[in-house]
Amino acid sequence: MTDGPDLVILTGAGLSAESGLGTFREKDGLWTRHDLNDVATPEGFARDPELVRDFYNARRANLREAEPNDAHRALARLQRTCPGQVMIVTQNVDDLLERAGAEALHMHGELFKTRCAFCEAVRADKGDLTAAEACPSCGEAGGARPDVVWFGEIPMFMPQIEAALEHCRFFASIGTSGAVWPAGGFAAQARRAGARIVELNLEATEISEIFHETIRGPASEILPPWVEEMEGRLARSPWGC
Ligand code: OAD
Repeated sequence: MTDGPDLVILTGAGLSAESGLGTFREKDGLWTRHDLNDVATPEGFARDPELVRDFYNARRANLREAEPNDAHRALARLQRTCPGQVMIVTQNVDDLLERAGAEALHMHGELFKTRCAFCEAVRADKGDLTAAEACPSCGEAGGARPDVVWFGEIPMFMPQIEAALEHCRFFASIGTSGAVWPAGGFAAQARRAGARIVELNLEATEISEIFHETIRGPASEILPPWVEEMEGRLARSPWGC
């Protein structure tokens, strides 16, 4: 028995890039075309809710068309093979991991959920966000926002994630630039606590040098062999999988 998952995986936008969902900071990334202060902060929503709803409606439309890729499927397989031993923490607001059969903690929320800015009620919703819709819980109109975490807001599931980082033996950072905190600090935290840490990314990142190992390439190509290797390592661990 362990105190938690043996392996903690952090994923970012690079995991879903080959499914056609844009990343944020690369050339042509979302934050090169939109000012995040306008569309990803509570202040931006207060200033111009329509602009924010339009931005997320476009992202919902992309996500409705997207499909999981081999990287999502590989992570789902790893979780199935090693039940209870693999925690996936994702910064991605898409549902492609779930559609591939994986379970993930969405620390930055979920695009296909709508939150009422007045009463905080959250509901599943794949359609367009509109100003006119009344909240089914409190009846107020005008408060519909995506249930995603904006800059200046607190990421979700932090106590669970922190506990897992303190106990895991392996940590993997997949398709994330590590530029956003607190997620950008998870690798260092896991390493300090004794985990072996690996980065899987198309390119080097600003935090690459802290990893014991780096694997370069597109997620859909490098994840399947890495998952196979991890299945072996976790099976050989004292707890098995
Ligand atoms: P970024 O856009 O910052 O970084 C994407 C990373 O994915 C880069 O390091 C790329 O090299 C890598 N990448 C791109 N294509 C890839 C591929 N096919 N295979 C493997 N890696 C690939 O996105 P995130 O790190 O996810 O937060 O950004 C973190 C947070 O910043 C997001 O969750 C979002 C954003 O602001 C909020 O909206 C709160």
